[in-house]
Amino acid sequence: MRDQHEYQIVSPGRVNLIGEHTDYTYGYVMPLATDLHTRLDATPTDQAEEVQIRSEAIGETRTVSIDDPQANGDWTDYVAGCYAVLQAEGYDPAGFVGELSGDLPLGSGMSSSASLELAIIGFLDSVHEFGLSREEMATLAQRVENDFVGVSCGIMDQFAVALGQADHALKIDTESLGYEPVRFPEDLEVVVFHTGVERELVDSEYNQRRETVEAALDTLGESSSKDVSADDLDALPPLQKQRLGYVIRENERVQRAVEALESGDNAGFGDVLVTAHRDIAENYEASCAELDFFVDAALEEGAYGARLTGAGWGGTAIAIVDTAGADAFAESVYETYTDQFPDRDPHYHLVTASEGVSVSAEN
Ligand code: GLA
Repeated sequence: MRDQHEYQIVSPGRVNLIGEHTDYTYGYVMPLATDLHTRLDATPTDQAEEVQIRSEAIGETRTVSIDDPQANGDWTDYVAGCYAVLQAEGYDPAGFVGELSGDLPLGSGMSSSASLELAIIGFLDSVHEFGLSREEMATLAQRVENDFVGVSCGIMDQFAVALGQADHALKIDTESLGYEPVRFPEDLEVVVFHTGVERELVDSEYNQRRETVEAALDTLGESSSKDVSADDLDALPPLQKQRLGYVIRENERVQRAVEALESGDNAGFGDVLVTAHRDIAENYEASCAELDFFVDAALEEGAYGARLTGAGWGGTAIAIVDTAGADAFAESVYETYTDQFPDRDPHYHLVTASEGVSVSAEN
Protein backbone atom coordinates (compact mmCIF):
# COMPACT_ATOMS: atom_id res chain seq x y z
CA MET A 1 0.00 0.00 0.00
CA ARG A 2 1.13 3.44 -0.94
CA ASP A 3 1.23 6.04 1.84
CA GLN A 4 -0.92 9.15 1.46
CA HIS A 5 1.14 11.89 -0.14
CA GLU A 6 0.50 15.52 -1.03
CA TYR A 7 1.69 15.33 -4.64
CA GLN A 8 1.21 12.83 -7.42
CA ILE A 9 3.48 13.01 -10.44
CA VAL A 10 3.05 11.00 -13.61
CA SER A 11 6.09 11.02 -15.88
CA PRO A 12 6.04 9.07 -19.15
CA GLY A 13 8.68 7.02 -20.90
CA ARG A 14 9.55 7.69 -24.52
CA VAL A 15 9.78 5.81 -27.77
CA ASN A 16 11.55 7.33 -30.74
CA LEU A 17 9.73 6.79 -34.04
CA ILE A 18 12.63 8.03 -36.16
CA GLY A 19 15.65 10.35 -36.00
CA GLU A 20 18.17 8.08 -34.27
CA HIS A 21 21.62 9.25 -33.22
CA THR A 22 20.84 12.68 -34.63
CA ASP A 23 20.24 14.68 -31.44
CA TYR A 24 23.86 15.12 -30.34
CA THR A 25 24.65 16.76 -33.68
CA TYR A 26 21.60 19.00 -33.37
CA GLY A 27 19.53 17.24 -36.02
CA TYR A 28 15.87 16.17 -36.13
CA VAL A 29 14.13 13.54 -33.99
CA MET A 30 10.52 12.35 -33.72
CA PRO A 31 9.78 10.64 -30.41
CA LEU A 32 6.54 10.25 -28.52
CA ALA A 33 5.86 10.07 -24.79
CA THR A 34 4.26 6.78 -23.74
CA ASP A 35 1.40 5.83 -21.45
CA LEU A 36 3.89 3.56 -19.67
CA HIS A 37 5.08 5.89 -16.94
CA THR A 38 6.89 6.48 -13.68
CA ARG A 39 4.68 7.54 -10.81
CA LEU A 40 6.04 9.56 -7.90
CA ASP A 41 3.93 10.13 -4.78
CA ALA A 42 5.68 12.70 -2.64
CA THR A 43 5.36 15.05 0.30
CA PRO A 44 7.73 18.00 0.74
CA THR A 45 9.64 18.32 4.02
CA ASP A 46 11.57 21.28 5.31
CA GLN A 47 14.73 19.15 5.46
CA ALA A 48 17.61 20.86 3.72
CA GLU A 49 19.84 17.79 3.93
CA GLU A 50 17.98 14.80 2.60
CA VAL A 51 15.36 13.05 0.54
CA GLN A 52 13.86 9.76 1.56
CA ILE A 53 12.67 7.78 -1.39
CA ARG A 54 11.37 4.29 -1.96
CA SER A 55 11.44 2.48 -5.30
CA GLU A 56 8.82 -0.21 -5.57
CA ALA A 57 10.50 -1.80 -8.61
CA ILE A 58 13.91 -1.96 -6.99
CA GLY A 59 12.52 -2.79 -3.57
CA GLU A 60 14.67 -0.26 -1.74
CA THR A 61 14.13 2.76 0.47
CA ARG A 62 17.06 5.14 0.37
CA THR A 63 18.15 8.33 2.03
CA VAL A 64 19.71 10.67 -0.52
CA SER A 65 21.92 13.51 0.64
CA ILE A 66 20.97 16.76 -1.08
CA ASP A 67 23.37 18.96 0.83
CA ASP A 68 26.36 18.81 -1.56
CA PRO A 69 24.92 15.88 -3.61
CA GLN A 70 27.41 13.31 -4.93
CA ALA A 71 27.05 10.56 -7.54
CA ASN A 72 27.52 7.02 -6.24
CA GLY A 73 26.70 4.95 -9.30
CA ASP A 74 23.14 3.75 -8.63
CA TRP A 75 19.54 4.84 -9.25
CA THR A 76 19.58 7.48 -6.53
CA ASP A 77 22.01 9.50 -8.72
CA TYR A 78 19.02 10.57 -10.81
CA VAL A 79 17.49 12.08 -7.67
CA ALA A 80 20.68 13.62 -6.27
CA GLY A 81 21.59 14.91 -9.75
CA CYS A 82 18.35 16.90 -10.01
CA TYR A 83 19.25 18.71 -6.80
CA ALA A 84 22.82 19.28 -8.03
CA VAL A 85 21.74 20.92 -11.32
CA LEU A 86 18.99 22.98 -9.66
CA GLN A 87 21.43 24.18 -7.01
CA ALA A 88 23.98 25.05 -9.71
CA GLU A 89 21.28 27.27 -11.26
CA GLY A 90 20.76 29.07 -7.93
CA TYR A 91 17.60 27.25 -6.81
CA ASP A 92 17.39 25.81 -3.33
CA PRO A 93 14.82 23.02 -3.19
CA ALA A 94 14.16 21.34 0.18
CA GLY A 95 13.83 17.60 0.70
CA PHE A 96 10.84 15.28 0.45
CA VAL A 97 9.65 11.81 1.27
CA GLY A 98 8.34 9.87 -1.67
CA GLU A 99 7.57 6.58 -3.36
CA LEU A 100 8.27 5.56 -6.93
CA SER A 101 6.01 3.14 -8.74
CA GLY A 102 4.39 2.92 -12.19
CA ASP A 103 4.57 0.54 -15.12
CA LEU A 104 7.56 1.84 -17.09
CA PRO A 105 10.09 -0.99 -17.29
CA LEU A 106 13.50 0.05 -15.94
CA GLY A 107 16.54 -0.09 -18.20
CA SER A 108 14.53 -1.26 -21.22
CA GLY A 109 15.41 1.51 -23.63
CA MET A 110 12.28 3.55 -22.91
CA SER A 111 14.13 6.25 -20.97
CA SER A 112 13.21 5.31 -17.44
CA SER A 113 16.04 7.57 -16.28
CA ALA A 114 14.75 10.65 -18.13
CA SER A 115 11.30 9.80 -16.80
CA LEU A 116 12.58 9.76 -13.22
CA GLU A 117 14.54 13.01 -13.68
CA LEU A 118 11.50 14.84 -15.02
CA ALA A 119 9.32 13.46 -12.21
CA ILE A 120 11.71 14.95 -9.65
CA ILE A 121 12.30 18.26 -11.44
CA GLY A 122 8.57 18.68 -12.25
CA PHE A 123 7.68 18.01 -8.62
CA LEU A 124 10.28 20.40 -7.18
CA ASP A 125 9.28 23.08 -9.70
CA SER A 126 5.64 22.83 -8.55
CA VAL A 127 6.39 22.75 -4.84
CA HIS A 128 8.80 25.69 -4.90
CA GLU A 129 7.16 27.61 -7.76
CA PHE A 130 10.40 27.99 -9.69
CA GLY A 131 8.41 28.76 -12.82
CA LEU A 132 10.58 26.60 -15.08
CA SER A 133 9.38 26.14 -18.64
CA ARG A 134 9.11 22.59 -19.93
CA GLU A 135 12.06 23.21 -22.24
CA GLU A 136 14.11 24.36 -19.24
CA MET A 137 13.10 21.26 -17.30
CA ALA A 138 14.21 19.07 -20.21
CA THR A 139 17.54 20.87 -20.48
CA LEU A 140 18.17 20.57 -16.73
CA ALA A 141 17.35 16.85 -16.85
CA GLN A 142 19.81 16.39 -19.72
CA ARG A 143 22.43 18.10 -17.55
CA VAL A 144 21.75 15.56 -14.80
CA GLU A 145 22.88 12.89 -17.29
CA ASN A 146 25.74 14.87 -18.85
CA ASP A 147 27.26 16.56 -15.81
CA PHE A 148 26.25 14.37 -12.86
CA VAL A 149 25.66 10.78 -13.99
CA GLY A 150 28.30 11.05 -16.74
CA VAL A 151 26.23 9.91 -19.75
CA SER A 152 26.76 12.15 -22.78
CA CYS A 153 23.26 11.80 -24.24
CA GLY A 154 21.42 14.35 -26.39
CA ILE A 155 18.19 16.15 -25.49
CA MET A 156 15.67 13.82 -27.17
CA ASP A 157 14.60 11.66 -24.24
CA GLN A 158 14.18 14.45 -21.72
CA PHE A 159 12.39 16.66 -24.25
CA ALA A 160 9.87 13.94 -25.13
CA VAL A 161 9.19 13.18 -21.47
CA ALA A 162 8.75 16.89 -20.63
CA LEU A 163 6.74 18.02 -23.66
CA GLY A 164 4.92 14.93 -24.95
CA GLN A 165 1.38 15.35 -26.24
CA ALA A 166 -1.50 12.87 -26.22
CA ASP A 167 -2.03 11.20 -29.62
CA HIS A 168 0.97 12.96 -31.12
CA ALA A 169 4.64 12.42 -31.79
CA LEU A 170 6.89 15.49 -31.66
CA LYS A 171 9.14 16.46 -34.54
CA ILE A 172 11.91 18.29 -32.71
CA ASP A 173 14.71 20.42 -34.05
CA THR A 174 17.27 19.60 -31.37
CA GLU A 175 19.27 22.73 -32.21
CA SER A 176 16.58 25.40 -31.73
CA LEU A 177 14.36 23.15 -29.55
CA GLY A 178 11.49 24.22 -31.79
CA TYR A 179 8.99 21.41 -32.25
CA GLU A 180 5.90 20.44 -34.13
CA PRO A 181 3.30 17.95 -32.86
CA VAL A 182 2.55 15.31 -35.51
CA ARG A 183 -0.71 13.43 -35.07
CA PHE A 184 -0.19 9.71 -34.74
CA PRO A 185 -2.90 7.91 -36.76
CA GLU A 186 -5.65 6.27 -34.72
CA ASP A 187 -5.60 3.16 -36.87
CA LEU A 188 -1.93 2.50 -36.12
CA GLU A 189 -0.32 0.94 -33.09
CA VAL A 190 3.26 1.14 -31.87
CA VAL A 191 4.53 -2.20 -30.62
CA VAL A 192 7.60 -1.80 -28.44
CA PHE A 193 9.70 -4.95 -28.25
CA HIS A 194 12.53 -5.36 -25.81
CA THR A 195 15.00 -7.88 -27.22
CA GLY A 196 16.25 -9.01 -23.82
CA VAL A 197 19.76 -8.03 -24.93
CA GLU A 198 21.38 -5.96 -22.23
CA ARG A 199 23.01 -2.93 -23.69
CA GLU A 200 26.51 -3.55 -22.42
CA LEU A 201 28.17 -1.92 -25.39
CA VAL A 202 26.09 1.18 -25.28
CA ASP A 203 28.30 3.53 -23.33
CA SER A 204 31.55 2.88 -25.16
CA GLU A 205 30.02 2.58 -28.65
CA TYR A 206 27.75 5.59 -28.13
CA ASN A 207 30.64 7.78 -27.07
CA GLN A 208 32.76 6.60 -30.01
CA ARG A 209 30.01 7.42 -32.51
CA ARG A 210 29.56 10.77 -30.90
CA GLU A 211 33.27 11.56 -31.11
CA THR A 212 33.43 10.52 -34.76
CA VAL A 213 30.52 12.67 -35.94
CA GLU A 214 31.63 15.60 -33.79
CA ALA A 215 35.09 15.37 -35.36
CA ALA A 216 33.47 15.28 -38.80
CA LEU A 217 31.41 18.40 -38.07
CA ASP A 218 34.51 20.09 -36.72
CA THR A 219 36.39 19.40 -39.95
CA LEU A 220 33.49 20.84 -41.95
CA GLY A 221 33.22 23.86 -39.65
CA GLU A 222 29.57 23.19 -38.84
CA SER A 223 27.83 22.71 -35.51
CA SER A 224 24.61 21.09 -36.73
CA SER A 225 24.23 18.03 -38.98
CA LYS A 226 21.26 19.85 -40.55
CA ASP A 227 23.70 22.21 -42.27
CA VAL A 228 25.71 19.47 -43.97
CA SER A 229 24.85 18.24 -47.47
CA ALA A 230 25.78 14.93 -49.06
CA ASP A 231 28.37 16.71 -51.25
CA ASP A 232 30.13 18.16 -48.20
CA LEU A 233 30.89 14.63 -47.00
CA ASP A 234 33.52 14.10 -49.70
CA ALA A 235 35.93 16.24 -47.69
CA LEU A 236 35.93 13.71 -44.84
CA PRO A 237 37.99 10.58 -44.11
CA PRO A 238 36.06 7.33 -44.84
CA LEU A 239 34.75 6.46 -41.37
CA GLN A 240 33.61 10.02 -40.62
CA LYS A 241 31.96 10.15 -44.03
CA GLN A 242 30.15 6.88 -43.38
CA ARG A 243 28.90 7.87 -39.94
CA LEU A 244 27.91 11.44 -40.70
CA GLY A 245 26.40 10.31 -44.02
CA TYR A 246 23.98 8.16 -42.05
CA VAL A 247 23.05 11.12 -39.83
CA ILE A 248 22.39 13.41 -42.82
CA ARG A 249 20.10 10.83 -44.43
CA GLU A 250 18.36 10.21 -41.10
CA ASN A 251 17.59 13.93 -40.74
CA GLU A 252 15.96 13.81 -44.18
CA ARG A 253 14.01 10.71 -43.26
CA VAL A 254 12.45 12.45 -40.26
CA GLN A 255 10.92 14.96 -42.66
CA ARG A 256 9.74 12.19 -45.01
CA ALA A 257 8.19 10.33 -42.08
CA VAL A 258 6.29 13.47 -41.00
CA GLU A 259 4.93 13.92 -44.52
CA ALA A 260 3.85 10.28 -44.73
CA LEU A 261 2.06 10.43 -41.36
CA GLU A 262 0.35 13.69 -42.23
CA SER A 263 -0.89 12.38 -45.57
CA GLY A 264 -2.16 9.10 -44.12
CA ASP A 265 0.44 7.10 -46.06
CA ASN A 266 0.97 4.29 -43.55
CA ALA A 267 2.90 2.13 -46.00
CA GLY A 268 5.19 5.03 -46.89
CA PHE A 269 5.77 5.76 -43.21
CA GLY A 270 6.66 2.12 -42.59
CA ASP A 271 9.08 2.08 -45.53
CA VAL A 272 10.98 5.07 -44.18
CA LEU A 273 11.40 3.27 -40.86
CA VAL A 274 12.75 0.14 -42.50
CA THR A 275 15.19 2.14 -44.63
CA ALA A 276 16.33 3.87 -41.43
CA HIS A 277 16.92 0.54 -39.74
CA ARG A 278 18.97 -0.84 -42.62
CA ASP A 279 21.03 2.34 -42.75
CA ILE A 280 21.75 2.50 -39.01
CA ALA A 281 22.68 -1.20 -39.04
CA GLU A 282 25.02 -0.92 -42.00
CA ASN A 283 26.53 2.52 -41.69
CA TYR A 284 26.23 3.45 -38.03
CA GLU A 285 26.75 -0.15 -36.89
CA ALA A 286 24.37 0.32 -33.97
CA SER A 287 22.26 -2.82 -34.47
CA CYS A 288 22.75 -6.48 -33.50
CA ALA A 289 21.50 -9.89 -34.67
CA GLU A 290 18.47 -9.81 -32.36
CA LEU A 291 17.31 -6.37 -33.49
CA ASP A 292 17.76 -7.29 -37.16
CA PHE A 293 15.88 -10.53 -36.62
CA PHE A 294 13.00 -8.71 -34.95
CA VAL A 295 12.73 -6.24 -37.83
CA ASP A 296 12.62 -9.04 -40.42
CA ALA A 297 10.15 -11.08 -38.36
CA ALA A 298 7.90 -8.04 -37.88
CA LEU A 299 7.86 -7.33 -41.63
CA GLU A 300 7.18 -10.98 -42.37
CA GLU A 301 4.25 -10.79 -39.98
CA GLY A 302 2.78 -7.81 -41.87
CA ALA A 303 4.08 -4.72 -40.02
CA TYR A 304 4.20 -1.50 -42.05
CA GLY A 305 7.66 -0.88 -40.71
CA ALA A 306 10.04 -1.73 -37.88
CA ARG A 307 13.36 -0.47 -36.60
CA LEU A 308 15.58 -0.32 -33.57
CA THR A 309 14.75 2.60 -31.29
CA GLY A 310 16.95 4.39 -28.76
CA ALA A 311 20.69 3.93 -28.68
CA GLY A 312 20.78 0.42 -30.20
CA TRP A 313 23.28 -2.42 -29.64
CA GLY A 314 20.45 -4.41 -28.08
CA GLY A 315 17.65 -2.87 -26.08
CA THR A 316 14.44 -2.06 -27.87
CA ALA A 317 12.83 -2.05 -31.31
CA ILE A 318 9.45 -0.87 -32.54
CA ALA A 319 7.00 -2.16 -35.12
CA ILE A 320 4.14 -0.16 -36.63
CA VAL A 321 1.01 -2.21 -37.25
CA ASP A 322 -2.73 -1.82 -37.73
CA THR A 323 -4.48 -1.38 -34.40
CA ALA A 324 -6.82 -4.18 -35.33
CA GLY A 325 -4.73 -7.31 -34.94
CA ALA A 326 -1.89 -5.65 -33.01
CA ASP A 327 -2.13 -8.09 -30.09
CA ALA A 328 -2.04 -11.13 -32.34
CA PHE A 329 0.87 -9.62 -34.28
CA ALA A 330 2.91 -9.03 -31.13
CA GLU A 331 2.22 -12.49 -29.75
CA SER A 332 3.22 -14.14 -33.00
CA VAL A 333 6.47 -12.18 -33.40
CA TYR A 334 7.24 -12.89 -29.75
CA GLU A 335 6.97 -16.62 -30.44
CA THR A 336 9.09 -16.47 -33.59
CA TYR A 337 11.70 -14.50 -31.68
CA THR A 338 11.85 -16.82 -28.67
CA ASP A 339 12.15 -19.84 -30.98
CA GLN A 340 15.17 -18.21 -32.55
CA PHE A 341 16.69 -16.90 -29.32
CA PRO A 342 15.56 -19.28 -26.56
CA ASP A 343 18.01 -17.81 -24.06
CA ARG A 344 16.68 -14.30 -24.35
CA ASP A 345 13.89 -13.00 -22.17
CA PRO A 346 12.09 -10.51 -24.42
CA HIS A 347 8.95 -8.59 -23.57
CA TYR A 348 6.66 -6.29 -25.46
CA HIS A 349 4.15 -3.49 -24.91
CA LEU A 350 1.59 -1.73 -27.05
CA VAL A 351 2.01 1.96 -26.29
CA THR A 352 -0.10 5.07 -26.79
CA ALA A 353 1.24 8.59 -27.35
CA SER A 354 0.65 10.50 -24.12
CA GLU A 355 1.12 13.77 -22.26
CA GLY A 356 4.46 14.82 -20.84
CA VAL A 357 5.12 14.92 -17.10
CA SER A 358 2.17 16.12 -15.00
CA VAL A 359 2.00 17.12 -11.35
CA SER A 360 -1.15 17.21 -9.26
CA ALA A 361 -1.63 18.12 -5.62
CA GLU A 362 -4.06 16.37 -3.31
CA ASN A 363 -5.78 19.47 -1.98
C1 GLA B 1 19.93 7.55 -26.30
C2 GLA B 1 20.22 8.98 -25.90
C3 GLA B 1 19.47 9.97 -26.81
C4 GLA B 1 19.74 9.66 -28.28
C5 GLA B 1 19.52 8.17 -28.57
C6 GLA B 1 19.90 7.81 -29.98
O1 GLA B 1 18.59 7.23 -26.08
O2 GLA B 1 19.80 9.19 -24.57
O3 GLA B 1 19.85 11.30 -26.50
O4 GLA B 1 21.03 10.07 -28.66
O5 GLA B 1 20.25 7.36 -27.69
O6 GLA B 1 19.06 8.43 -30.89
